[in-house]
Amino acid sequence: MDDRYRIAPSVLSADFARLGEEVRAVEAAGADLIHFDVMDNHYVPNLTVGPLVCAAVRPHLRIPIDVHLMVEPVDGMVADFADAGANLISFHPEASRHVDRTLGLIRERGCKAGLVFNPATPLAWLDHTLDKVDLVLLMSVNPGFGGQRFIDSVLPKIAEARRRIDAHGGAREIWLEVDGGVKTDNIAQIAAAGADTFVAGSAIFGSKDYAATIREMRTRLAGARRA
Ligand code: DX5
Ligand code: ZN
Repeated sequence: MDDRYRIAPSVLSADFARLGEEVRAVEAAGADLIHFDVMDNHYVPNLTVGPLVCAAVRPHLRIPIDVHLMVEPVDGMVADFADAGANLISFHPEASRHVDRTLGLIRERGCKAGLVFNPATPLAWLDHTLDKVDLVLLMSVNPGFGGQRFIDSVLPKIAEARRRIDAHGGAREIWLEVDGGVKTDNIAQIAAAGADTFVAGSAIFGSKDYAATIREMRTRLAGARRA
């Protein structure tokens, strides 16, 4: 297995009535992380799940839970998700009044901290934050719904984020994750632009055979060449 890359199925496209079974199935199918989309009908126009559901799935999993907070305000949710067993917690910087404080709160709770960028959010938020960031999450759709089309103009932004992460150096590894419209037929191109962690909701949970889909993604990734 190529350990440069991680695949994170998004629970948003799972069958919520059988969530424990679904997350066990994607872990058994070879997922590296579970991506957990939290929407509040305020920051985004949709409403999903909170810390109680995160705590309920935690015992079904050994792999890390990658919580993507699409909520505003952010800070009140951090401790709740850390207590619910989250391993990574990411938030949209424009939804937090004090970004440095929120990053600190996440790390103090023993989780890896991520910043999420919508397609039109500038990477300038990385200017004074990279020392506290473990994960840069680039949205390749506008957040709120699964099953949307990948926005191609995000590809050069992935390359730019990759350059900024590499230029930052440092002993700590910073992951570069892409979320939205990731499929078997574009995953290699996204990796070539510089991503190393791939969220896929409908592409995995909408397929008949989760293991075959993840295997196909890894095969495509093995052939990817970074520009
Ligand atoms: C969108 C969510 C995504 C979504 C991806 O707001 O953040 O994680 O589930 O779904 P697909 O892979 O179907 O685009
Ligand atoms: Zn997400």
